[in-house]
Amino acid sequence: MRKIEKIKKRYLEQVFGIEQLSNSTPWSYSSFLDCMRKDYKFYVCVEDEKVLGFFIASFSLLEGHLLNISVAPNMKRKGIGNDLLDKVEKISNQFGIKEIFLEVRESNNEAISFYKNYGFLEIGLRKNYYKLYDGREDALIFSKKLKNNSLSLKQIFYILGNILRFRIR
Ligand SMILES: CC(C)(COP(=O)(O)OP(=O)(O)OC[C@H]1O[C@@H](n2cnc3c(N)ncnc32)[C@H](O)[C@@H]1OP(=O)(O)O)[C@@H](O)C(=O)NCCC(=O)NCCS
Repeated sequence: MRKIEKIKKRYLEQVFGIEQLSNSTPWSYSSFLDCMRKDYKFYVCVEDEKVLGFFIASFSLLEGHLLNISVAPNMKRKGIGNDLLDKVEKISNQFGIKEIFLEVRESNNEAISFYKNYGFLEIGLRKNYYKLYDGREDALIFSKKLKNNSLSLKQIFYILGNILRFRIR
C-alpha cells in the first residue's frame, strides 16, 4: 500500500533519481541533503520501499512555499501528485499556514494543469527566474489560500511576544 511519510536517508538516492528524470536542470544531491537537515517539510510517497514521488516545502510564519514536487515518470497520472498536495495542505493547516506559494516554468504545461486542477491560481510572474543550459526562463507564480483559522504554537508565541514587547515599551 502506498503511503506518504517523512524522508529517510535511505530514500534519498531514489528521490535524486526521480529528480534527474523529471527536471531539465535538476537540483544537486547536496541540495536534497541540505533539505533533510534543515527545517524543511520533506516527504516521500513510498510503496514497498520504492519511492514514487516526493515534495519539499518551507514554511514561514503564515506562508508556505512549495519548493519541489515530482512523481516518478512511470507513475504519473495515478493520483500520486494530488496525494502529495493533500499532504502539503494537511501539514500547512497543522502549522497555521494561510497561503501556499510556488513557482513553475512557464513552459511546464503538465505542472501548470496539475496545479490549476488542484485550485492554485496564477498570481504573477518572475522574469528570468530559471536558469537553463542555454539561457533563462520566466516563472509563473501560483498560490492557494487555505481556509484554516487555527494558529500554531509558534504563531501564538510570536503574537504573545509582540504584545509583550509592545507593553514593555
Ligand atoms: C506535475 C506532476 C507532479 C503531477 O503528478 P501526477 O501524479 O502525474 O498528478 P496526478 O495524477 O495527481 O494528477 C492530478 C490532476 O492534475 C492534472 N494533470 C496532471 N498531469 C497532467 C498532464 N500531463 N496534462 C494535463 N493535466 C494534468 C489532471 O487534472 C490530473 O487529473 P486526471 O488525471 O484525473 O485528469 C508530475 O507530472 C511531475 O512529476 N512532473 C515533473 C516534475 C514537475 O514538473 N514538477 C513541478 C515543478 S513546478
